[in-house]
Amino acid sequence: GGGRGGGFTVTTPLYYANASPHMGSAYPSIAADALARYARLQEPAGSVHFVTGTDEHGEKIAESAARAGVATAAHVAAVSSEFRSLWEKLDVRFDHYVRTSADAKHQSLVREVVGRVQERGDIYKAAYTGKYCVGCEEFKQENDLEEGGVCPIHRTPCEERSEENYFFRLSKYQEDLEELLANNPDFVRPEARRQEVLGWLKDGARDFSISRASVEWGIPIPGDDSQTVYVWFDALLGYISALLAEGEGLEEACERGWPAKVHIVGKDILRFHCVYWPAMLMSAGLPLPGGVYGHGFLTKDGLKMGKSLGNVLDPVELVDTFGADRIRYFFLKEIDFGSDGDFSEVRFIDTVNADLANDVGNCLNRTLNLLKKNCGGLLPIDSSAIVVDHPVRAAAETAVRTYPRAMDVLDFNMACTSAL
Ligand code: MSP
Repeated sequence: GGGRGGGFTVTTPLYYANASPHMGSAYPSIAADALARYARLQEPAGSVHFVTGTDEHGEKIAESAARAGVATAAHVAAVSSEFRSLWEKLDVRFDHYVRTSADAKHQSLVREVVGRVQERGDIYKAAYTGKYCVGCEEFKQENDLEEGGVCPIHRTPCEERSEENYFFRLSKYQEDLEELLANNPDFVRPEARRQEVLGWLKDGARDFSISRASVEWGIPIPGDDSQTVYVWFDALLGYISALLAEGEGLEEACERGWPAKVHIVGKDILRFHCVYWPAMLMSAGLPLPGGVYGHGFLTKDGLKMGKSLGNVLDPVELVDTFGADRIRYFFLKEIDFGSDGDFSEVRFIDTVNADLANDVGNCLNRTLNLLKKNCGGLLPIDSSAIVVDHPVRAAAETAVRTYPRAMDVLDFNMACTSAL
């Protein structure tokens, strides 16, 4: 919901700094930006926090830097600045930008949280063997995989890994998580995604390893330099560290905009946000976010558009050709936020012409012409002259009522339609 008063924090995922952004990675940021702008119309100045940034640690990143033949730190810095310049081009106005491998405040927050979770008795060491997908940076269950142990998202076989790691006692939070979902029907939206999360919980929340012995590119585990913090445990905390100033830590989080009202995430990273993340926060004694919205994928020929499959649409090219506003409008209006959607240039051009040029553009143009002709170019502000039951007035009133209702439930399609 809208959450009027008390501030409003919205996040995009922290994008992997392994390769240039594509349209699929721009999509959540366009949505979050629309929501942040809407919140800024209602909240006191300075109390809206739009958080974004780059997720820069882990195996996948280190591998991509090695392939590019560049030092990892230089590689992630370059990719991160590509993301930043895309946001500028797309007119995405974030308030906080975190870089997980470069911001000292982030690294100290991660160490602080590992310490707290440890004090809670929620970390233990154990040996583990499992199937790992580097693309997902995740150990998979056999039943999540396709034939031959292939990851359904990345279409590559998972690798068998055996390691001695530090584990987080996720299982201890099983009941708390079930209660969280039962008491807050809006914690996971839309409803179909909530069902998915309920299904995972039903299968049982299994402890997961939060360290890697084989990955050097990461934050060392406090008290054991031979292991680094698992990239997901590290990155999720970026949502909080992004809000902090250098030198601040958990103590200050709640004065700086934590908890977030809503995390906007793709459906591929739902489990991390709806199961792992709330449990990590519970363990660390931190307030939970208001909710998680899991959107669909931009697809090409039915497959997720992505760097791994190489079937991407370049947002920089699109903006250079068509301009940011048209791109932003198309993706908000034409793709149902909870579902997958295909981009086609024909549909894009048709939508933009019909809605923006013909409907909105013509209406504005005719109004201005009439003003010029009949009112000497000045807007008459005599409200008694406005007919009470005029259809234009009724349309405007309906729009004003419908728009916020749509935005409150992240129905960007309805919000756009209501303004037409
Ligand atoms: N680094 C993690 C997120 C950590 S959040 C603490 C990650 N990064 S990502 O770059 O791979 O993806 C970032 C977001 O972009 C995800 O929400 C993902 O779903 C989204 N998208 C990537 N490709 C997409 C499409 N083709 N369509 C829509 N969104 C997709 O995951």
